[in-house]
Order: sequence, then structure tokens, then C-alpha cells
Amino acid sequence: MLSRIDHLGIAVNDLDEALALYRSGLGLEVHHREILQDQGVEAVALQVGESAIELLRPIRDDSPVARFLAEHGPGIHHVAYRVDDIEAALAHLKTAGVRLVDETPRIGLGGTRIAFLHPKSTFGVLSELVERPTAARGQREG
Ligand code: CO
Repeated sequence: MLSRIDHLGIAVNDLDEALALYRSGLGLEVHHREILQDQGVEAVALQVGESAIELLRPIRDDSPVARFLAEHGPGIHHVAYRVDDIEAALAHLKTAGVRLVDETPRIGLGGTRIAFLHPKSTFGVLSELVERPTAARGQREG
């Protein structure tokens, strides 16, 4: 059902400062940057081989990432798993008794379809499912 780690989400207060490290320091390439209004974040995806990291900066004080930063400071915010069929994965997890934040998929970074699982069901780690657009499958980035 889960085929790989799609990305790790990292919460930051200052995106430019974080990008200076991840681009110049670690030599990663930005392949997507987008404001996701429904999540209240500006997100930047940087490719790492077949996976990615996603830097997240809150754009509103009441966004979940802003609350995360207030509680924990910058750090790993979520783990995202790649799935081929997000509806099937959600149905399976629901049957297995996993608490879902999103019962139905929503649109994530770069036109992906995503859904979050509740950290109370996943040992304190916010987890995300990601289904990439079919047309982009097999390309360097979807
Ligand atoms: Co994510």
C-alpha cells in the first residue's frame, strides 16, 4: 500500500534562512514552491533522490504549522508516504481503526492528492499519504 517515503515535512519560521542552508549548504534543488491556503502554509519542496523534503512556513498565526512551531520550535512536522490509490489506502486505514484527519483527499503541493492521519493514532507522528498525479508518474517530479 505504501511504496516509499514521499517526503519529510519540516516546520520553519524563516523560509529564506532555511533555503540558504538546504540549497547552498546541502546542495538540494527546489522543485516546487507554493502557498497552500487551506493548510495556512508556504511550502517549498526540495528533491533528495527519489524522496523530498518539504519546508513549511506558516502564513497565518492560527495554522496548524504555526501552532506546531509555538509548541515545539522548528523541526520535523510530518512524515509522508507515497500511495498509488489514496482512496483505497484511506479505506483500509479506517477499517484498521486508524484515526484520520482527512476522511477524503485534498489537494496538496504540486497538484498531489493528500490526506493526513491523526498523530494520536500513529505514535505521535503526524503522517500524510500522497498520491502523485498519474501523468507525472515516472518523471523526476510529479
Ligand atoms: Co507534506
